[in-house]
Amino acid sequence: MSDYSSLKDSLNSHKPICLSPMDGITDEPFRLVQAKISKPDITFTEFVSAEGISHGGVKLYDQLLFSQIERPIVGQLFGKDPDSFYKSAIILTHLGFDGIDINMGCPAKTVIDNGSGAALINTPDLAVQIIQSVKQAVADYTSGKTSINDIGLNQKTLAIIDRNLKYSSVNDSTPRQPTVSVKTRLGVSSPSVDTWIPVLLNQHPDFISIHGRTLKQAYSGQADWNLIKTVVDMAQGSGVKIFGNGDLQSRSQAQEYIDKYHIDGALIGRACMGNPWVFADHKATPQEKYDAMIYHAQLSTEIFPQRRFDPLRKHFLLYAGGLPNASKLRSKLVRISNLSELQSIESDFVSPQE
Ligand SMILES: Cc1cc2nc3c(=O)[nH]c(=O)nc-3n(C[C@H](O)[C@H](O)[C@H](O)COP(=O)(O)O)c2cc1C
Repeated sequence: MSDYSSLKDSLNSHKPICLSPMDGITDEPFRLVQAKISKPDITFTEFVSAEGISHGGVKLYDQLLFSQIERPIVGQLFGKDPDSFYKSAIILTHLGFDGIDINMGCPAKTVIDNGSGAALINTPDLAVQIIQSVKQAVADYTSGKTSINDIGLNQKTLAIIDRNLKYSSVNDSTPRQPTVSVKTRLGVSSPSVDTWIPVLLNQHPDFISIHGRTLKQAYSGQADWNLIKTVVDMAQGSGVKIFGNGDLQSRSQAQEYIDKYHIDGALIGRACMGNPWVFADHKATPQEKYDAMIYHAQLSTEIFPQRRFDPLRKHFLLYAGGLPNASKLRSKLVRISNLSELQSIESDFVSPQE
């Protein structure tokens, strides 16, 4: 998918296999490693709070940093306030995203207790208002009716937006029209696709990504791909693309599911963790895993020098997964607190002694 100037057009000729959004995982360093090692057809950011970025939460803008090689890149928003979604969609369009995705699937208690994420399945009128706000913002920004200076952002927020534009090498004289999409689940306590999916289809998002589980299931059990196929059938003739998601382990499996369930695209999430080769169907050698892990750690310390090092350990443990001495390595990796300590365990990684 080389022409990213219109993600919408490319969806008519490609069935993309995408990197699914993962909060606390798919940040800029993770996505750069992913883009370099095996590039997804579309990359999603981790979700970011619409209320947060539109009300001066400048730290949250780190989650919206992206590089040109990740394109097409879709920024994901969560929240429950249509006005904040309007402002956030102006911001994401200004930042040069190829798409804006609305999270209506997150099962985390902190998110649903507030009425956001998958809780929106229970408040369809609000879900509709949110989609309409995002669509309106994209139309208003691209027609020149509303600019980044018209949405009441303070100077500090405007300055951080400039920082992001520079980082991403985005020149706002070439605005693109982002796609508007929704990522959701089959239902809340039980599947309710018959009532929920028509609500979304009536708003004509460019695509809907459907994770084949309910909110109640969170990540338990298996994704129900037959119900994903039901959603595909419901969308027939609507012009809305349906992307399937849940438990895919490889590009070839995603391709097989695209063919079998007639989806218009697929999202791979957890299988990418510690395994950036997933979009190339490559089984990495220990040396390749070690090199990718070091590259990931280097990028993280370069891009976010102010961040603590220990949250990176979760990634290191995932890179070590599947190695013959994984459990021994794990006990070392959980104590690593800087890059040189990580480099000091190369031999444990690449020529493991059981
Ligand atoms: C750690 C973690 C964080 C996630 N964060 C998000 C998120 O920010 N936005 C979202 O829409 N889905 C999020 N998800 C859900 C995934 O995008 C995906 O829908 C789910 O993991 C099922 O796909 P998989 O079986 O390929 O992992 C997250 C999942 C995990 C495991």
